[in-house]
Amino acid sequence: MKTCWIIYNGSLVNDKFLDQARLMAEAAQQLHVQPTIYKNYEIMMNLDEELQNKPDFVIFLDKDILLATYLKNSGIPVFNDPEVIETCDNKAKQYIQLSKAHIPMPMTIIAPKVYSNFTIRDSGYFERVLQTLGLPMIIKEGHGSFGMKVYLINTEEEFFEKVDELRGVDFVFQQFIDSSRGRDIRVNIIGDDVVASMYRHSETDFRANITNGGKAEKIVLTDHQKEVAIRAAKAVGAEFAGVDLLFGPDEEPIVCEVNAAAHIRNLYNITGVNVGVQFIEYILKKIG
Ligand SMILES: Nc1ncnc2c1ncn2[C@@H]1O[C@H](COP(=O)(O)OP(=O)(O)O)[C@@H](O)[C@H]1O
Ligand SMILES: [Mg+2]
Repeated sequence: MKTCWIIYNGSLVNDKFLDQARLMAEAAQQLHVQPTIYKNYEIMMNLDEELQNKPDFVIFLDKDILLATYLKNSGIPVFNDPEVIETCDNKAKQYIQLSKAHIPMPMTIIAPKVYSNFTIRDSGYFERVLQTLGLPMIIKEGHGSFGMKVYLINTEEEFFEKVDELRGVDFVFQQFIDSSRGRDIRVNIIGDDVVASMYRHSETDFRANITNGGKAEKIVLTDHQKEVAIRAAKAVGAEFAGVDLLFGPDEEPIVCEVNAAAHIRNLYNITGVNVGVQFIEYILKKIG
């Protein structure tokens, strides 16, 4: 019988991370794979000792990139690959890759690195961003989930306040896609295939995230939406991905982001599909 480790972040107190790991574990059991759920800190990363009782593969539901790399270097196949997790965990880095692959995405400008005790307020960079993107615009931190680090900026005052606040942090400036205000599509991709999707909409916020008050419904995707989502996942190398699609002015798909450790509970509740099953099937086929 094959074995797998399912790893989530133990420092996060919210139950949804353990719930996510349990859904994956159920999927593993359905496919006769023996799962063990670990919090990231339950694995000792002692570089002077050989890791014991290694599993056949790891499902990595966390962003502890050092642990993912450590496990991969011990010879265990890790899904997603640590490099993919790292790319997706930094939205700026991710947008560089999406843009290189010509994926349709909102116009995006990356903020230069500024050390937290310093300022480039007089450089003219921010004025050029304002001129190029106009207002309202989106400011988005590199590291953030559930819509928590995504800001809609309406005035110049808000703009400069946020820019000042984010010294020392990776972030991007982005065109606000008004035609998609409060609505998007989450598409779950495994390998080259769309395995489940849902439409998300919020009456109260420009962000459609469910954690942020959005509601979810079933949706049948167009071929174009599917194709764009699959291409986006490929562009960042993700074998398991939750791609967020925005609606352009003619309802055309525009990629908002690719999540490497996409949560699967809401999709399961809406579609009845535990995409973990297809994910583990995919892994078993790949590792042989
Ligand atoms: N450029 C944009 N234009 C319009 N809405 C956006 C834009 N970027 C993000 N959003 C909205 O904000 C939500 C959160 O943004 P996202 O980049 O997916 O960050 P997170 O990782 O926090 O989910 C999206 O689901 C979408 O509803
Ligand atoms: Mg998102």
